[in-house]
Amino acid sequence: MRINKFLAQAGIASRRKADELIADGRVKVNRLTLREPGYDVKEGDLVEVDGKAVTVAEEKVYLAINKPVGYVTTVSDQFGRPTVLDLVTDIEARLFPVGRLDYETSGLLFLTNDGDFAYRMTHPKHELGKTYRARVQGFLSRERLAKLRKGVDIGGFTTSPATVEIVRELPKQTIVDITVHEGKYHQVRRMFKAVGNQVVELERIAIGDVRLGRLTSGGYRKLTKEEMKKLGL
Ligand code: URA
Repeated sequence: MRINKFLAQAGIASRRKADELIADGRVKVNRLTLREPGYDVKEGDLVEVDGKAVTVAEEKVYLAINKPVGYVTTVSDQFGRPTVLDLVTDIEARLFPVGRLDYETSGLLFLTNDGDFAYRMTHPKHELGKTYRARVQGFLSRERLAKLRKGVDIGGFTTSPATVEIVRELPKQTIVDITVHEGKYHQVRRMFKAVGNQVVELERIAIGDVRLGRLTSGGYRKLTKEEMKKLGL
């Protein structure tokens, strides 16, 4: 960001006045008086006006993205696989994903630069219901549905009560919506496996009251004011 814009955003002066401050030798960058009015402020630069440090608070950004299958939800990947952040091309903020979705799972994921929000959202105490649409192999009997709803042992952990609704029964597969309240590793896949159905496709369609809606695969949008309110922002 150009120094005059930086000073304007920090509330020091208008851009024109900022240029005057620079010309008057009142602005220092990294302890040296700035002689270059077109200077681009870089990450980590110490900017001072009349000897006082100046900072610009980064605007908080909250995005909903529709993660495609074949992307990782980390900032970088040791195997060089594409990350969800590769999909975001027009936002300057340094974003990171809130929580995780498997490489093979698609659907709703939040991206933010707000560390407190990310921490709150992933803390077990505040865990919001997460709704997934699963395509599973075979038929889901009443008994299996009842087990999933009540809680199943997924190997050393019993899931808490879940909402489970059959969306459609196909000749050899079933489409199911399931809302869970924890975020254990491979939780939904393991829950269905525990009752004898293999998940063949998994998509997250909601986090709390925020829905994936019509976001296209790989598409993203800012959370609305109402959604932010519902998330306690
Ligand atoms: N449960 C899973 O099995 N995978 C996900 O990505 C999310 C929930």
